[in-house]
Amino acid sequence: MSQLHIVDHPLITHKLSIMRNKKTGSKDFRELLNEIAMLMGYELTRDLPLEDITIETPITKTKAKMVSGKKLAIVPILRAGIGMVDGLLSLVPVAKVGHIGLYRDPQTHKPVEYYCKLPNDIEDRIVILVDPMLATGGSACDALSMLKARGCKNIRFMCLVSAPEGVEKVQAEHPDVDIYTAALDDCLDERAYIVPGLGDAGDRIFGTL
Ligand code: PRP
Ligand code: URA
Repeated sequence: MSQLHIVDHPLITHKLSIMRNKKTGSKDFRELLNEIAMLMGYELTRDLPLEDITIETPITKTKAKMVSGKKLAIVPILRAGIGMVDGLLSLVPVAKVGHIGLYRDPQTHKPVEYYCKLPNDIEDRIVILVDPMLATGGSACDALSMLKARGCKNIRFMCLVSAPEGVEKVQAEHPDVDIYTAALDDCLDERAYIVPGLGDAGDRIFGTL
């Protein structure tokens, strides 16, 4: 069963509250999103395997530990997922970045695919799928299916704000994928926006309101 990790460190919760405020502009919104992505990335990479190596300190030869060869890929769901990539790259600068383009049809609220470009060796990587919003769960589930169709076996999903409906759908359709979220909100409204949420994440990041 997929686990739901609510990463509610006080610094993350504080930054998220600023982002929720409708008076916060795009520049601050973008900066805070990347800061939170970095802080959440710290938790999400907690179980990365370490390997023993031998090094020489200025004093003596010693055994030390380094993150083992298992490589990472960061995959944002366009557009809004792009806002979390730099924060994660500041933690893991050698990760490769793929892109999945999905938009939600405003009438049906169902995701429509328009782009997919992934690293060639994606199936050998630990994949971090990122999107700030998990609402109905349609976009996350479709993106996870696209990754699995290309052979990915080790995937985790990171979002900022989630709705119970989305969490339930991802857990039902992708029980092997752990979800990391900064907040679990109350519900969805009649337009399938998260309540209280923060509005349209893509529009707030890119100033297209
Ligand atoms: C938003 C958000 C997610 C999706 C979540 O993207 O960034 O991708 O909606 O909703 P769901 O869980 O109900 O599928 P949107 O489709 O608005 O596209 P954008 O990022 O290009 O603005
Ligand atoms: N997409 C968003 O950007 N915000 C929501 O609340 C729901 C879907």
